[in-house]
Amino acid sequence: MDAIRIRGGGPLRGAVRISGAKNAALPILCATLLSDGASRLRNVPALRDIDTTAALLRFLGRDVKVAAPEVEVAAGSSVRPEAPYELVKQMRASVLVLGPLVARFGHAKVSLPGGCAIGARPIDQHLKGLEAMGCKIRLERGYVHVEGPGDRGRLRAGEVYFDIPTVTGTENLMMAAALAKGRTTLVNCAREPEVEELARVLNKMGAEVDGAGTDVIHIRGSERGELAPFDHAIIPDRIETGTYMIAAAVAEGGEVTVQGAEVSDIEPLIVKMRAAGVEIATEGQNILVRRNKPLKAVNVTTAPHPGFPTDMQAQFLVLMCFARGESVISETIFENRFMHVPELQRMGASIALRGNTAVVQGVDKLYGASVMATDLRASASLVIAGLVAEDETEVRRVYHIDRGYERIEEKMRGLGAKIERVKGADA
Ligand code: EPZ
Repeated sequence: MDAIRIRGGGPLRGAVRISGAKNAALPILCATLLSDGASRLRNVPALRDIDTTAALLRFLGRDVKVAAPEVEVAAGSSVRPEAPYELVKQMRASVLVLGPLVARFGHAKVSLPGGCAIGARPIDQHLKGLEAMGCKIRLERGYVHVEGPGDRGRLRAGEVYFDIPTVTGTENLMMAAALAKGRTTLVNCAREPEVEELARVLNKMGAEVDGAGTDVIHIRGSERGELAPFDHAIIPDRIETGTYMIAAAVAEGGEVTVQGAEVSDIEPLIVKMRAAGVEIATEGQNILVRRNKPLKAVNVTTAPHPGFPTDMQAQFLVLMCFARGESVISETIFENRFMHVPELQRMGASIALRGNTAVVQGVDKLYGASVMATDLRASASLVIAGLVAEDETEVRRVYHIDRGYERIEEKMRGLGAKIERVKGADA
């Protein structure tokens, strides 16, 4: 397994360009199942999760050409509405094929994703929504079998009430409803920008989606039983944006321009970083981040969008390791999303974990160490810590990072970081 080695040094300086949003590209790739035509996605990041989704679509019978930043998907010679465990276990977002498969082909067999490092992450809300649209659900030997209603399995438009906002749950049901006869209403939806982006694509394909970005979404399904193919450029990745903003702010003297960002999508982070004393100026799709004074301790509680994103919690916690005073970081979305804490403690951070809250006391410095990546965003936070820690930090199992950050060492090197990838390091 590869590792990433970082030699702690001075602040980052320069400009970095943001890639397309992983969490928008994944549902949109799955939406191609709703059409047999050739769909084209642009500004797609070169990531492991994109390759995994391409492999899954090929398994389902699609022809997929990945030439980052473009991906083309069209119908192949067969259809196999089944997502196997070997692929789903690599990436939980594979569950996003469920809605399109049932809507289009009347049935689907998808491996249950199983838990992951950050939590159990069940899909009960996805299944509850499909049942509300007339589906029969059967769980058997680690797989979920979904049968659409009636003969051709056309889903019935209906009302779906989510018990909690779920990003991929909302996206799965939007895609299912896009081929259901009549108008479906989804209530208590996730409001993330990636949900809005999927709605834009479904509207290009001929569905009628209203309300994406709010907690109530209406979808009028296409009468034709199939949607049109699309050509779409993916929005920038707001979490990659926030990650480089934090990297710019951890060391005093940092001055970085994050280019090609969607400022409004990362507003919740901008507010908190400014409260911590980081200077942030925005101009169009550019965000200038300057750190030229000591950091103030700031409390953060993660929440569904437009609250503070859980995917930025680990990175912000690292920033608070260098703030003056005590900050309280509360994680309300996932039950086990502090695995970066023990690794940071080994680097000298002063953090006390109490349930889903981390109490951080700022310190003057961290010390380089060999640390273990556990999940995508925790790994990124360890790289950020390594940028300013004394001596050298080696982050192992960086396949986690490669799932969601395109060319991270190249982009960080472009900002002056002393960072390299070590092939085949110890696990
Ligand atoms: C999406 O995951 C993102 N992934 C995650 O990003 C992100 O952390 C998460 O949303 C929250 O913002 C993609 O978009 C591909 P949820 P998702 O369903 O949809 C519970 C990253 O780093 N829940 O919104 O799986 C669930 O356990 C990844 O890029 C149920 O109980 O998250 C969690 O506690 C990590 N039942 C909460 O809801 C369900 O049926 C929110 O989960 C579904 C979810």
